[in-house]
Amino acid sequence: MTKTLFDVLPWQLRTNKLHTSDFLLQESLTSIGNGYMGMRGNFEETYSGEMHKGTYLAGVWYPDKTKVGWWKNGYPDYFGKVVNAVDFIPVNIQINGVEIDLSQVTYQDFEQTLDMRTGELKRSYKVVVGNVSALLTFKRFLSLAVKELSYQKIGVAVIEGNAIVCLKPLINGFVKNNDSNYDELFWKVLETSHKPLPYLTMITVPNAFGIEQFTVTAMMKNVVTLSDSDQKIAKESLQTDEQVAEIYQAQLASGEAITLEKVVSVVTSRDILPSKQKETAERLVQKSLSYDEALETQERLWKERWQLADVAIEGDVKAQQGIRFNLFQLFQTYYGDDARLNIGPKGFTGEKYGGATYWDTEAYAVPLYLALADPKVTRNLLKYRHNQLKEAKENAEKLGLRGALYPMVTFNGVECHNEWEITFEEIHRNGAIAYAIYNYTNYTGDTSYLAHEGLEVLVEISRFWASRVHYSTEKEQFMIHGVTGPNEYENNVNNNWYTNVLATWVLRYTKEAYEKYSQLPDFKATVFCSPEELAHWANISDNMYFPYDEKRQVFVQHDTFLDKELMPITELKESDRPLNQKWSWDHILRSCFIKQADVLQGIYFFGDHYSLAEKKRNYLFYEPMTVHESSLSPSIHAILAAEIGLYDKAMSMYERTARLDLDNINNDTGDGLHITSMTGSWLAIVQGFAQMRTWNGQLSFSPFLPKGWESYSFHILYRERLLKVTITETVRIDLLEGEPLTLTLYDHNVELSDHIAMPIEGGVPSDV
Ligand code: BGC
Repeated sequence: MTKTLFDVLPWQLRTNKLHTSDFLLQESLTSIGNGYMGMRGNFEETYSGEMHKGTYLAGVWYPDKTKVGWWKNGYPDYFGKVVNAVDFIPVNIQINGVEIDLSQVTYQDFEQTLDMRTGELKRSYKVVVGNVSALLTFKRFLSLAVKELSYQKIGVAVIEGNAIVCLKPLINGFVKNNDSNYDELFWKVLETSHKPLPYLTMITVPNAFGIEQFTVTAMMKNVVTLSDSDQKIAKESLQTDEQVAEIYQAQLASGEAITLEKVVSVVTSRDILPSKQKETAERLVQKSLSYDEALETQERLWKERWQLADVAIEGDVKAQQGIRFNLFQLFQTYYGDDARLNIGPKGFTGEKYGGATYWDTEAYAVPLYLALADPKVTRNLLKYRHNQLKEAKENAEKLGLRGALYPMVTFNGVECHNEWEITFEEIHRNGAIAYAIYNYTNYTGDTSYLAHEGLEVLVEISRFWASRVHYSTEKEQFMIHGVTGPNEYENNVNNNWYTNVLATWVLRYTKEAYEKYSQLPDFKATVFCSPEELAHWANISDNMYFPYDEKRQVFVQHDTFLDKELMPITELKESDRPLNQKWSWDHILRSCFIKQADVLQGIYFFGDHYSLAEKKRNYLFYEPMTVHESSLSPSIHAILAAEIGLYDKAMSMYERTARLDLDNINNDTGDGLHITSMTGSWLAIVQGFAQMRTWNGQLSFSPFLPKGWESYSFHILYRERLLKVTITETVRIDLLEGEPLTLTLYDHNVELSDHIAMPIEGGVPSDV
């Protein structure tokens, strides 16, 4: 059952309803961020209904002690948690002594808008308190220009009556994680003070694992004005062990208003030494602009982002809002400015899933950042893994294996996930990390990463695979047993086709790269592979076992998949879904239902290795059994459906990925947004509807126009060029920057020097 709280508009999320029974969902959807920090759509004023206060600072985390039922050797000691940090947006409001709390007071004309052109979140409503009625307005955004700054503007305008209005802007250091294993606090406030301005400094509590403690200072500057400048404002300062606040009080008659501009600077020990934090925080707030001035800059910066990244769709506002919302939330989480960071599945919008880095980044985010950002952004994402190679090797060693096993979930390279079926078995993640090195090299044409750091990572990953396979004397082939594929609805399976394909591919790719680059005079990689080692890898990849069904001519997900009771999801009752919320885990494991692309993920990654007929057969076999309960699933299906000509299916999969959160399709958006899968709607349009491919360094498109759409257009960066692709009844490609290039449009090789256009169903280019 889907749920849509916000009006369908091209650039905004807007509602005139406070959804008290879906407040968590409303909070998730109205999250804002600037890559450095972010928060759920919490209210500034008191709210005593069900809510999840959550403010998060990129890269600030806490190692929470592992909690498991029965300890198994190899489990990680801690689970790195996104840590709920200093709560700096509150402004309590009283009118004639009555605390404004929307779950207590009478209100009307509620309105909330999140504007994707600026990142500004606005709210307003009227309250009636005794014989006073007043209009309250709230605006805020997190600055893109100065990442440490948050801007807020709050107004109370008396419509009728006489009111004593009291505004209490504060910073609160008493924060708890929703998601903590032992219900412990992760922070301790070190200091609260009003000099030079109200601020507090807090530190993550000591941990037993030698992980650095983070220190954070938040300082505010409040400017209060009255519409009648002759009136007086009384001001008081308050402080407790965990809060700093100011109280502003004024007497207002009807028609009069009070406005507060609150600017907060938040600095952390990731960038600023604790001893310098106070002065840095002060300098930043003192130099801050007025709300309206800062908003102008904010709009300009978002405009620059949108100029490159926007996907404009004519004729389908729902689809339009979906893609923009996803790009907006994705860029609010990560825009590639800080090489130390990665992209967490919930970004700044919730705590579920803990750590910051999953295979999601390499498999789902890298293709988008390759096309929409400078190559250095993707290179940073790759380097992030190179920097954690040591920990990945330790991780493999811990499991008694050689080479490097990258973690499923991490902040610092150390595995944080402690369910054995994921930690020990979902090893396909290693393949996605290798694949991203290929993807970067193939997309950009820059081999310098592969030849050096990339090769160091690839060799260790290959060593891992070589030690994780075993030789079956029975079948005289290599096998990989005891794994979990991308389909987490089955665990401990043998010969997951996808895992075996990836392992084989990595071994071959690494061998080729090693043989090529290790011969060069400027070879810098610090790895040495003996001829015997390379020969062993070749032997494994030439003799790997892949489950295959001759009768159906499909790749088999794993050894015993076909022995299951196979049935399509159309056999399920509406009340069974989502399975992960309705069925026991045991029931799920025994069923044939697939959480997300598994065999099809492999076919997507290596699309140039399989024929169209193979793609069709496998799609038609697996998709009908797929429940898409991972948010990562629909996009891959949209791409493959488009390629095999199932255009309606491609469209429905697009809608599912694009509006996953806006329509709460998986019934879990209240926990936070699905940030890493937000690339999915872009992938579905660019790699699905437009069929953009880059196999072997050759750019190609085979677009179709989805039913009901009048047009769609997008930009891509490709090998130092900027292209604009517009699809109406014709495909038009404009070369906006860079040298001419040859590309393939449908089956034609065309030279793009200014623009080309041809009818969408093929035919000869009209003006090549
Ligand atoms: C998916 C994983 C994914 C994780 C984080 C899980 O539900 O099955 O593939 O890495 O979510 O997004």
